[in-house]
Amino acid sequence: MADWRIKSLETILATAEKKSLTRSLGAFQLTMLGIGGIIGTGIFVLTAEAAQVAGPAMLVSFVVAAVVCGLAALCYAELASMVPVSGSAYTYSYATFGEILAWVVGWALVLEYAVAASAVAVGWSGYAVGVLQNFAGIELPKALVNGPYAGGLINLPAVVISVAVTALLVVGTKESATVNAVLVAVKVLALTAFVALAVPASQSSNFVPFMPLGASSAIGAAAIIFFAFVGFDAVSTAAEETKDPQRNIPIGLIGSLVICTAFYLLVGVGVIGSYGAQPIMDAAGNAPFPGSTEMAALCEADKASMVVCSKEALAHVLRSIGYPGIGNVLGLAAGFALPSVVLMMMFAQTRVFFVMSRDGLLPKGLSKIHPRFKTPHIVTMVTGAAVTVAAAFFPVGQLASVSNGGTLCAFFFVALAIMALRRTNPDRKRSFRTPAVWVVAPLAAAGCLMLFAFLSLVAQMVFFGWAAIGLVFYYFYGRTRSNVAMGLDEVNELDPDIPPQGVPPLPGIPTPGGKQA
Ligand code: ALA
Repeated sequence: MADWRIKSLETILATAEKKSLTRSLGAFQLTMLGIGGIIGTGIFVLTAEAAQVAGPAMLVSFVVAAVVCGLAALCYAELASMVPVSGSAYTYSYATFGEILAWVVGWALVLEYAVAASAVAVGWSGYAVGVLQNFAGIELPKALVNGPYAGGLINLPAVVISVAVTALLVVGTKESATVNAVLVAVKVLALTAFVALAVPASQSSNFVPFMPLGASSAIGAAAIIFFAFVGFDAVSTAAEETKDPQRNIPIGLIGSLVICTAFYLLVGVGVIGSYGAQPIMDAAGNAPFPGSTEMAALCEADKASMVVCSKEALAHVLRSIGYPGIGNVLGLAAGFALPSVVLMMMFAQTRVFFVMSRDGLLPKGLSKIHPRFKTPHIVTMVTGAAVTVAAAFFPVGQLASVSNGGTLCAFFFVALAIMALRRTNPDRKRSFRTPAVWVVAPLAAAGCLMLFAFLSLVAQMVFFGWAAIGLVFYYFYGRTRSNVAMGLDEVNELDPDIPPQGVPPLPGIPTPGGKQA
């Protein structure tokens, strides 16, 4: 069946070699890149949502989410060291399972990256509002800092940051390694300060009851807090810019994940131990879902003193345990550093769209390059508009859950791809071989399915709805127009100087000889 046509690994690798960017990143920079992508709204904001779903058992949630991500990272590492090209899960799937599943994965990556950008923008908004209040005494009207879910009209700060990041990407600003290193240092310092002050203030009584809402709630919270770990796969998208990718990519992926997990657990202990993280309950003794109108009403009555009600959870805890100044500075640090995560997610999104459009699966007009800025401005503006609208009207937890649905889908296929490639390409060089692959990859896939099953119903429905729209679009568009379907020899049509600044590197471009029906 034509839709299962694949791109050969040889073609992908040969083209990547030909078009690759300067290989300048080493293991340290990659680990920094990973930490830069990982630490963001998840730990700074969603900790409160995880606490609302699971209470202190959110510590278990951190471990569960980290284990699933770790298993997926081990699979990513082998794929990235074997196919060191950009395009991530989408490209791997094109080479392994063929076009239609590559399309499904690429389409799911839109949820992962674009919706994650919206979630981080909303998370940033909470801290930005706090900074304005605490440093400048400016209190923005409630209607302008909340979406309708919390009785507001629009989340204006989230809109502002989304538009600003879109503008930066259109004019071609790409975060430099130095800027990234500074922002990583800011985030790590902020979390270190939090841990240093909150953990010693812990009281064991705050851990009781440990599972106020039952054991399964810990998995439910893991499905949300999973968001805090997403971003390590950005490391694999930098494969073409990496020195000795076979060695350094696995170090960057797994190193950044291990470091972040250690931080998250300590931060979790600090939040629970020093301040308490019990869920807020309604009169009937039920815990409303975070982001719901009911939750907003309860928090209003609570005067937002519980951590589960705070939109700047970590700053709130520090202020409440006697460090108001440091709490405010932590808020400032988050306000300063979180936009880089929005930028990274939106950049990754434009990269995936660009590649899919270049492959002919999306309209080619989308990958047009701006004559002056040399960026894929159309795809960036389309992405930016969608990110802005979602950030304006939806709650952070719901956006994070929707994003997780897409990410889990991509991870699931990466886990399947690694097993398929062990069978179909057993002799290809793999400088990193996933240990115990026949245990790790099935567990990674099962972990993804489990977390998906615990996502909110809304997030699951959005995922399936989005997938259905994608398949219809593929049927009427990409199926007949993709380069592979049309037998285009794009290698010779492309300007060899592309990609210019801000334009994603190109994954495999099929040649007639390379495609298989
Ligand atoms: N892991 C990233 C964050 O938490 C997406 O913001």
